Amino acid sequence: MGKITISTLDKMKAAGEKFACITAYDATFSRLVSEAGAETILVGDSLGMVLQGHDSTIPVTIEHMEYHTECVLRGASDAMVIADMPFMTYSDPQQAMANATRLLQAGAQMVKMEGGTWLSDTISMLVERGIPVCAHLGLTPQSVNALGGFRVQGRTPKEAKSILADAVEIQDAGASLLVLECVPSHLATDISEKLDIPVIGIGAGPGTDAQVLVMHDLLGLSQHSARFVENFMAGRDNIQQALKAFVDAVKDGSYPAEEHTYS
Ligand code: KIV
Ligand code: NA
Repeated sequence: MGKITISTLDKMKAAGEKFACITAYDATFSRLVSEAGAETILVGDSLGMVLQGHDSTIPVTIEHMEYHTECVLRGASDAMVIADMPFMTYSDPQQAMANATRLLQAGAQMVKMEGGTWLSDTISMLVERGIPVCAHLGLTPQSVNALGGFRVQGRTPKEAKSILADAVEIQDAGASLLVLECVPSHLATDISEKLDIPVIGIGAGPGTDAQVLVMHDLLGLSQHSARFVENFMAGRDNIQQALKAFVDAVKDGSYPAEEHTYS
């Protein structure tokens, strides 16, 4: 397919073509994700949970993310690699710049940060200096303690309004992509229609421009999985088939189905 860039994804959004993202943390799985046809690979700080066994992403460090980004890069071929900035590594623009530099030098094409309005200055500073940013709104797992648990966000009109305002603001600040996690389907659809930048959903219903899942969840390996997860290994013989099935289901709109969404 040729190296995927942000312009590829912008064109796909404009053409109404859905794209897929899967997390990977090492070279073998990033090769499989790329071969399955996913346009983007996320080196998620979910590695704190699925690789390290913590019950949140808070213990993940920039060194961990650098190491796994380097590993993923070696397998990624055409797919675009986005790396998560871990907890408290982007609390002000200077700190964010120093840490994002490390992830770009490890080979990421874009960094992802959780937050809305308060991140605007950081986003514009990074973008002006050549570091593309993916923002992350809705359920932001690094704030699990402040949110009072892993729960759906944006259910009240007030919350929904504030997520939409954050989304507009991060786009205005120069973000290239937005991840929306665990929000009601209608809110995610509304935000995806209002924004020019592609929106990647997880637990956000079928109306977003793309879908992402954590590798271990879609392979049915996680102990507790959320309502929005489908086990793509079910009825299939190998991981390659499962990854391909996820990518195909995202592209033809059959995932997520009604049973995976929050209303
Ligand atoms: O860390 C991660 O895997 C993520 C996705 C779930 C969006 O942030
Ligand atoms: Na993450």
